[in-house]
Amino acid sequence: MSERITGIGHGLTNYGDPDFSLYLRRSFAKSMGYSRAMLEKPVVGIAYTQSGFNNCHRHFPELLDAVKRGVLAAGALPMEFPTISLGEVFLSPTSLKFRNLMSIDTEEMVRAQPMDAVVLMGGCDKTVPAQLMGAVSAGRPTVMLVAGPMMTGRHRGERLGACTDCRRFWAQYRAGKIDDKEISEVEGKLATTAGTCAVMGTASTMACLAEALGMILPGTAAIPAVHADRLRAAEATGALAVKLIGSKLTPDRIINSKSMENALRVLLAIGGSTNAIIHLTAIAGRAGVPVSLKRLNELSDTTPVLVNLKPVGNGYMEDFFAAGGMGALMRELKDLLHLDAMTVTGETLGKRLEHDSDGWIDRTIIAERKTPLEPQGGLVALFGNLAPQGAILKRSAADANLFELEGRAVVFSSLADLAARIDDPKLDVEANDILVLQNAGPHSESAMPEAGYLPIPKKLATKGVKDMVRVSDARMSGTAFGTIILHVTPDSASGGPLGLVRNGDRIRLSVKERRISLLVDDAELKRRAAAAKPAIEPPSRGYARLYAQEILGADQGCDFGFLKPR
Ligand code: FES
Repeated sequence: MSERITGIGHGLTNYGDPDFSLYLRRSFAKSMGYSRAMLEKPVVGIAYTQSGFNNCHRHFPELLDAVKRGVLAAGALPMEFPTISLGEVFLSPTSLKFRNLMSIDTEEMVRAQPMDAVVLMGGCDKTVPAQLMGAVSAGRPTVMLVAGPMMTGRHRGERLGACTDCRRFWAQYRAGKIDDKEISEVEGKLATTAGTCAVMGTASTMACLAEALGMILPGTAAIPAVHADRLRAAEATGALAVKLIGSKLTPDRIINSKSMENALRVLLAIGGSTNAIIHLTAIAGRAGVPVSLKRLNELSDTTPVLVNLKPVGNGYMEDFFAAGGMGALMRELKDLLHLDAMTVTGETLGKRLEHDSDGWIDRTIIAERKTPLEPQGGLVALFGNLAPQGAILKRSAADANLFELEGRAVVFSSLADLAARIDDPKLDVEANDILVLQNAGPHSESAMPEAGYLPIPKKLATKGVKDMVRVSDARMSGTAFGTIILHVTPDSASGGPLGLVRNGDRIRLSVKERRISLLVDDAELKRRAAAAKPAIEPPSRGYARLYAQEILGADQGCDFGFLKPR
């Protein structure tokens, strides 16, 4: 037998006789009803992440049909394969802990199974970065299809969308402004369709960044999940995957320092999620491209916020789609972008932006450069003796009145301590104090949950306090808002200075100077470090042990050390 090495003939199972291996593989493939003619076609693998534990991917069966239609019409054989799916709110302790596991699953299944090109179907927060990380490492021709955002719902005449409004109503409930009955009504109206959260949260941010990176079809990041255009995008994605067969345009070539800088610009202009910094760092890291927080600050100083969506502004993703979406935004940013960056279609970003427009832009959602929502980018990195390797503040979602502040630290040593005391009427806390949460970073047992949005203590919330400076090594949901300093690195559990803060210490925040300082002298900090308890024993087995041994800090994208390229 002499066979072309394409399609199911790729990467044969090793029995010591390749012809036997191919014969055996074909005979098993025939048990699925494929004809010999189909089995001789090239194969497009579809990384399929539908799961009963992932509401955001509820529509994936219909999308899968459309991808397959596109693949078949273009002359290849589509074969979906399952990988881990990460449904944001169904995972404990947090989905981030499993992002790297999903990336390993994606990388290895793409590499181990016979496929000539790949379609990645992802959407919910960690799925897109996990798939892109895996695809960069696997190095096969790949195009991504994102889930698309949910549509908004209505509550007593008001428009609602997950999940900025989830938090807004919960804050009202905590402050006693709405009762049990109303909060349970709201619960049923926040997430009413398939798709990812309806605001510019992490999932929407990552979808926009996937488009900025050139990894999805132009104009498809913001198409609502339930819109017929999403099905057409799925069909076209399948067809593009077939075109990619044999191409050298693999994700590790599309993702480079230029496309990464474009993604950072877009992140800043959309007022996107702080989580995206971690994810972009991890994706870029797989391609050997460093992402520097100092460079982020330079880009932030020269990139305006143009997109008026919650949690920074007023609109929802469906409005962004109707307003012109990513094409309109990137044309507005054109002079700031590397237009020679290559995209998965084989066109440069510049070429794509020349023809991808019907000219319509809703200026209430996508502002003009001369009238931006904010003259500077949405995110800023802070440094100082409290965060020697950096911390992140989403200034576009924060109260500028708190940007230059010195305050007394009110410290919670863990998430359990926070839960036990935050609403204690005896808690010694004032509105101009700085709340500090320790041991919620990547090296902690809680694995960096989205707990950086510390609730305002009930005794202050009921007096009308809406925002305070909050500092932690945790993350924050992309749908949240407030003057919240996150990702403090190194984190407490790896011996970082955040773990040395004590109640009553003074902390100084200066957003102008990009500084977060603990006003305690070095000798005292050394004394505290020497007296600190030894680190907890790593778990004895399984993925938890691998995680504990290999996890890197937020400045390295919280990837595993052994997954970085040598
Ligand atoms: Fe999946 Fe928000 S829960 S995107």
